[in-house]
Amino acid sequence: MTLLAPSAATPWLAPDRFWPGVIAATADLDAPVGVLELDALAWNAADLVRRAGGTPIRLASKSLRVREAIEAVLALPGWHGVLAYSLREALRLATRIDDVVLGYPTVDRGAIAALARDEEAARRITLMVDSVDQLDVVDAVVPPDRRPELRVAIDLDMSIDLPVLGHLGVRRSPLRDAASAVALGREVARRAGFRLVGLMGYEAQIAGVVDRYGANLAHERVIAEVKRRSAAQAFARREAAVAGLSEIAELEFVNGGGTGSIESTITDSSVTELTAGSGLFAGHLFDRYRTFRPAPAASFLLSVVRTPQTGLATVEGGGWIASGPIGPDRRPLPVWPPRLAYEAREQAGEVQTPLRGGALRTGDRVVLRHAKSGEPAERLAAYRLVRGGVRQGEWPTYRGEGMTFT
Ligand SMILES: Cc1ncc(COP(=O)(O)O)c(C=O)c1O
Repeated sequence: MTLLAPSAATPWLAPDRFWPGVIAATADLDAPVGVLELDALAWNAADLVRRAGGTPIRLASKSLRVREAIEAVLALPGWHGVLAYSLREALRLATRIDDVVLGYPTVDRGAIAALARDEEAARRITLMVDSVDQLDVVDAVVPPDRRPELRVAIDLDMSIDLPVLGHLGVRRSPLRDAASAVALGREVARRAGFRLVGLMGYEAQIAGVVDRYGANLAHERVIAEVKRRSAAQAFARREAAVAGLSEIAELEFVNGGGTGSIESTITDSSVTELTAGSGLFAGHLFDRYRTFRPAPAASFLLSVVRTPQTGLATVEGGGWIASGPIGPDRRPLPVWPPRLAYEAREQAGEVQTPLRGGALRTGDRVVLRHAKSGEPAERLAAYRLVRGGVRQGEWPTYRGEGMTFT
């Protein structure tokens, strides 16, 4: 736990020492090597808390997928509880963490049955619903009189429609206004075996859309205006839903936001807690926000296996492409040596990736950062912990512990 001690050190600001230090600290290991730099991780955890300005942060576990990292961050001030992404995962986390909200609906019958068998897990885990359909699935697996009361939160859609631009945000919950959220809240309260405890509204079009475009100031202005209008419309909806639901049940939490939206989400006075995860490991997509600049805590190292011609080196692996709208920003970003570029016709390959621009030799290491924060854990058995160019141990990923949830 003390591995994540707060530190004033910012070694990543000197990349010409930082990345060679990461390479040297892991030189004895065979690639691919996943690395978490602990000063960077601690700095990110503290910076998210600073940005939250006193609002507690719930940790989005999908953006880590490393149990010991989750527990280490939760031990820090300002962090409380997990937003899990699968009920099986939530059941596992709840053996050690007392507040686990499932951020998405589930129809996993085996996991629902396990939850219903476990009184302690039922006290610790909150299910997410956006329709009576999900309540019906739970009742079909275990009827209300044969299970402990299950905690339920409602997922409010926070997307908006703007003229010309159309739909902005994610298509998840069908509850597109306060009245429909309140109607579902009434149904949860009416039905035996469920207890309404919270509301979540994730404003993806603010949190998940980068807003720093370098020289393209016109584009930046458009995005800023879209985010401003999103906040005005969607926050009013969330506030109205909270007001209505509070007449039905005493809400323990109102959750909103993500790493990319903290400054905006805290202006909604109905929000009692934020969610953040990606800003901890800091996939490179999170380099392009205006209000914060995360430290590159997570990286992975690949080995050069051949040099097809001068100035071109081929590493083993590399095609760790991120989810989301397909585009060049979903590729891993080579960060060391500096100025490496993909071959336009090959890009990041299934087992080999040629990179142009360095004076690399067979056996050398290249450092890359994934676009997203949690996904590399699906390819790595463990992250090696490095601080100040020295190895500090390792944390297994979910996958390394034999768990793959989505
Ligand atoms: C429900 C929900 N809340 C919050 C987030 C934000 O998480 P992060 O900070 O990892 O971007 C997400 C990300 O997809 C999400 O699905």
